[in-house]
Amino acid sequence: MSAKKLFIQTLGCAMNVRDSEHIIAELTQKEDYSLTEDIKEADLILINTCSVREKPVHKLFSEVGGFEKVKKKGAKIGVCGCTASHLGGEIFKRAPYVDFVLGARNISKITQAIKTPKFLGTDINFDESEFAFADFRNSLYKSFINISIGCDKHCTYCIVPHTRGDEVSIPFSIIFKEAQKAVERGAKEIFLLGQNVNNYGKRFSNTHEKMDFPDLLERLSEIENLERIRFTSPHPLHMDDKFLKVFANNEKVCKAMHMPLQSGSSEILKAMKRGYTKEWYLNRAFKLRELCPTASISTDIIVAFPGESEKDFEETMQVIEKIRFEQIFSFKYSKRPLTPAANMPQQVDEATASRRLTQLQTRHNEILDEIVAKHNGAEFDVLFEELRANSAVAGRTNNNFLVQIQGSEELLGQIKRVKITNAKRMVLYGEAV
Ligand code: 5AD
Ligand code: SF4
Repeated sequence: MSAKKLFIQTLGCAMNVRDSEHIIAELTQKEDYSLTEDIKEADLILINTCSVREKPVHKLFSEVGGFEKVKKKGAKIGVCGCTASHLGGEIFKRAPYVDFVLGARNISKITQAIKTPKFLGTDINFDESEFAFADFRNSLYKSFINISIGCDKHCTYCIVPHTRGDEVSIPFSIIFKEAQKAVERGAKEIFLLGQNVNNYGKRFSNTHEKMDFPDLLERLSEIENLERIRFTSPHPLHMDDKFLKVFANNEKVCKAMHMPLQSGSSEILKAMKRGYTKEWYLNRAFKLRELCPTASISTDIIVAFPGESEKDFEETMQVIEKIRFEQIFSFKYSKRPLTPAANMPQQVDEATASRRLTQLQTRHNEILDEIVAKHNGAEFDVLFEELRANSAVAGRTNNNFLVQIQGSEELLGQIKRVKITNAKRMVLYGEAV
């Protein structure tokens, strides 16, 4: 029995989920902790934060305030992740009961942080790309694997380069071993993570075997008993023909592409410093639809970036009509510290931002209803991963639609053929065939 209990709350993206797995691994295997879901019995309370938009940052301070009230006597509180990186020591000032602050890209120092009063680890140039983390995974069937850390694109709205530092690829030998180990333990799917995955191999910390992202996909797909490979996020700028062809032709690569558009206006894309035009984006998306008609395309869109006129917004709406995305993550522009866009003139007012967001989401929902309705009667292979209420299990199709059927535990980790009987926007309900 472990002597100490760890409670951890994770906000934000898949990268943070994986960072939390690393933290849990280090603390349960190199220290004497075990996980608890009951915060009141925890000896160590951690929050792994996100700072990509303003809201989660506010959430951080209300959450840690709540921790302080319910924690047992002597329990420690640590703030980790992206907000820890960019607020650093200010967190101690605003919440003096916080015991340590550990930024993204410094999480390998967790075992040191828990033993050092007021530990502050926020160096965004710290290089963890070859650190041998202990091993822990939330899911047996799907394993997240980092292939790069950081991002140096410096899109003008984005704080990530200031919280996760410059992009460094993780050596292939490390990725391959991790993937092999996951599959040996029963993983059917590996999920490759990085800020710009298809820029893989441009920079390593040390001299390593040269490799680009399409080659990485091909090499990983040779692992026996591995069924599915997913990845996020690719950048539209690096979607060359070689990448699209491997995506389309390699049977283990899941046919779900995330293509963050951000805006459909070339002028706004330029102000965002995205590095591509609307025409390039459309060209790549159409090429993808042509090479791989079964692929779903998801995207991220920011409305009301500074200077976005009604005409610019209409161009975004036109791209939506042209591509008919299967999924859109849409956000109102949020002013972030340290980013050039925060000081741009012509910030768009809140009412306009809300109206545009609603308009975009409403139209997307109509398109999605049409797409989804066509799935009634269709059959998909589904990897079941999750138990749901009322004796149901849920999983994903190869092209990333969520499917639910009646069933129990023995379906978890299995890939089964399912016929869709009731296709809804968020879930396709079906029956095993
Ligand atoms: N405001 C709103 N959305 C943002 N994103 C990143 N930075 C901001 C910001 N300042 C969105 C982008 C990105 C996604 C992860 O979050 O769409 O692709
Ligand atoms: Fe942020 Fe742009 Fe890097 Fe994505 S590519 S993490 S949006 S700077």
